[in-house]
Amino acid sequence: MAIRVGIDGVIHDERTAVVPVFDRGFLYGDSVYEVTRTAGGRPVDLERHLERLDRSATAILLGPLDLGLVGRELAATLAAAGNPESYIRIVVTRGAGEMGLDPALADRPRRIVIVRPLKLPDRALYEQGAAVALVAVRRNLRRAVDPAVKSGNYLNNIMALAEAKRAGAYESIMCNAEGRVVEGSSSNLFVARGGELCTPALEDGLLDGITRRRVIELLHGAGREVAEAHLAPDDVRRADEAFITSSVRGVMPVVRVDGAAVGGGAPGPITREAMALYARFLAGAARGEL
Ligand code: PDD
Repeated sequence: MAIRVGIDGVIHDERTAVVPVFDRGFLYGDSVYEVTRTAGGRPVDLERHLERLDRSATAILLGPLDLGLVGRELAATLAAAGNPESYIRIVVTRGAGEMGLDPALADRPRRIVIVRPLKLPDRALYEQGAAVALVAVRRNLRRAVDPAVKSGNYLNNIMALAEAKRAGAYESIMCNAEGRVVEGSSSNLFVARGGELCTPALEDGLLDGITRRRVIELLHGAGREVAEAHLAPDDVRRADEAFITSSVRGVMPVVRVDGAAVGGGAPGPITREAMALYARFLAGAARGEL
């Protein structure tokens, strides 16, 4: 079990994996990134993650990226780490240069691939469910840096999560400036009521989560509709069931909102169906069935 970091194609261990203080990723959060995990040693939904990395990079005038090169560097870093299963983080910064905001000051993009042994959240969070808090911190406006861009600037989400932690919750749920529910600090949200499952619509300003999309497709395949809708905080408070999704978490039940039970206060049937479908998907991915 090892941590390995590829920086511009050179593989390091955790002691030598360093970037210059003049890197704009460090100074300004001027970077884009992706997180995924392996299943059976293979990066899950790699193509979709690389495609989103490129979209994010293009949106901040850093793309297009050489995705073939990123993929090869990822494969080499994974092989060097040799873990049974890994957490993967791919970061592309705008690089270093003279201090100053002007992107033209950057020398060249820096590619960083971080591979660590995979550590999943506690089993109890899946068996009993997690608590979330609807926080006062708003998700960034789409007309600012669009939340669809997975940039390295996460301070907004860090503040949201800190607010949720103060309230004793595991994850924060943010609204946009209009007060519509959008997503968690590092997860997408689904809620069910009266047997109908929905998730906030992308147009309300959120990350187009790879797991969100996958779960929608898997549920579709199983004959269950998922509405992409405008959600109010009360839709979450009055839900019968809720769950969050992200690449490392997969599907995680939500059983409390702001301290009150969601539905019966235990993972419900639609949530368990989504968890089972995603588990089956990961098992297939581990066998290379994608
Ligand atoms: N976060 N929303 C936000 C704001 C996120 O940061 C993430 C992922 C998601 C879920 O997206 P996906 O299914 O593509 O992982 C939604 C990653 C996991 C992270 O920052 O670690």
